[in-house]
Amino acid sequence: MANITVIGSQWGDEGKGKIVDWLAAKADVVVRFQGGHNAGHTLVIDGKTYKLHLLPSGVVRGKLSIIGNGVVVDPWALLKEVDRLKEQGVDITPENLMVSESAPLILPVNSALDKALEEARGASKIGTTGRGIGPAYEDQVGRRALRMCDLAHPETLRRKIEKLAFYYNALYKGLGAESFNVDELVAQLQEVAPRILPHVAPVWRVLDKAKNANKTILFEGAQGVMLDVDHGTYPFVTSSNTIAAQAANGSGVGPDQLGFVLGITKAYSTRVGSGPFPTELFDAVGDTLTERGHEYGTTTGRRRRCGWFDAVQVRQSVKICGIKGLALMKLDVMDTLDEIKICTGYTADGKTYDYIPASEDLQAKLQPVYETMPGWKTPLRGMRKLSELPAAALKYIHRLEELTGVTAVIISTSPEREDTIRVKVNNQVKTAGYFILVAINVDFIME
Ligand code: GDP
Ligand code: IMO
Ligand code: MG
Repeated sequence: MANITVIGSQWGDEGKGKIVDWLAAKADVVVRFQGGHNAGHTLVIDGKTYKLHLLPSGVVRGKLSIIGNGVVVDPWALLKEVDRLKEQGVDITPENLMVSESAPLILPVNSALDKALEEARGASKIGTTGRGIGPAYEDQVGRRALRMCDLAHPETLRRKIEKLAFYYNALYKGLGAESFNVDELVAQLQEVAPRILPHVAPVWRVLDKAKNANKTILFEGAQGVMLDVDHGTYPFVTSSNTIAAQAANGSGVGPDQLGFVLGITKAYSTRVGSGPFPTELFDAVGDTLTERGHEYGTTTGRRRRCGWFDAVQVRQSVKICGIKGLALMKLDVMDTLDEIKICTGYTADGKTYDYIPASEDLQAKLQPVYETMPGWKTPLRGMRKLSELPAAALKYIHRLEELTGVTAVIISTSPEREDTIRVKVNNQVKTAGYFILVAINVDFIME
């Protein structure tokens, strides 16, 4: 199997964890390349649920799991997650979990500041996960961050923390918060360092060796394209690049290593936190999607906002990331709907848009233009063959393919690992009088 870069094509929580775990059967290495423990990736294997935040989803299969330099790592959250997974029977060792020596650390000051800033924003809050992600990335680009490699050098650690205190104490004074205790933080980090350091490595070299040995690498994105700090619905975004190109930056491989870019895509839309969401539903259909889809956050437990599939938005993600195929998730959640809408464009201020403009003022005004299709009113949950899908479901999939410009190469019908359909290639499938033409060759997926 060739390398695959897995990207969330919407606002996160598309089902990336499920697909990375499924694909990991045929991969050798799984790499996280951005974000941090703001992510929540759920795997369900034979009825047993695993929730991953920082650890790559390949870890459950025992695959070499790498946390790249682009990930901001809270050392305490990392150890907690390792312990929780070990309790679930997952074997985690320095041989199968490696963390980049240049990954920036998330410190308690970062999460405290994240929460304080959100509180200060009041009604205009972003709805962050409160994990300190934004402030940690700010420290990195501000050139004052502590990094994994610093844990091995106590003197450097103290010197850098003193510098950090200079910065944070000025900020804290403005916010009326307590000042920063250097000794306490040095002691806290020295306590965790012995457990973390055995996992710390120059992972770009490990990935280079894997490449030379013809190993298959999966790059596991977190969040989604609309939460990208450059390309998303700014400022209602996360603080990292979530697009495919970041897989190279955030792990230290060349852009030629990214392979097939797979866009994980829900059959409807969800968003957690604030910000524009043109197809959001405030009616009984929205409630149905929330309840049937269990749309409550894996990380914060917050209720996710739900809406119709936004083909304009997903098409934009396809183009920005070079997505070659979609993994279409959670179709089964829509089983009971009489009719289904798809957003095919927007209007705002008397103009029509076939893309999401960058202005936050315009984004807030976008009104969706819909087309309507009949629902399939058949339980899809657990289906494992394309030929089992009813004609109305196939028509819906085909329309999404037409509008987004890429084919659905994987279709998922439940949270379970094996309830996953790999759409065969160059195949003409006839179901109930309806034809699907799969145009591109994706044979290497799971071959
Ligand atoms: P991620 O952040 O992209 O990995 O997605 P999350 O794990 O946060 O959210 C996706 C949720 O949908 C999880 O609870 C999954 O178990 C669940 N899920 C994934 N695929 C399917 C599917 O095809 N059908 C249903 N009903 N649930 C799914
Ligand atoms: P996965 O990987 C959905 C959202 C937050 C908030 C915004 C900024 O599970 O898909 P942050 O804490 O990152 O500064 O919050 O981004 N957000 C996510 N939404 N899925 C995620 O990850 C998310 N990670 C962050 O809700 O709106
Ligand atoms: Mg999630």
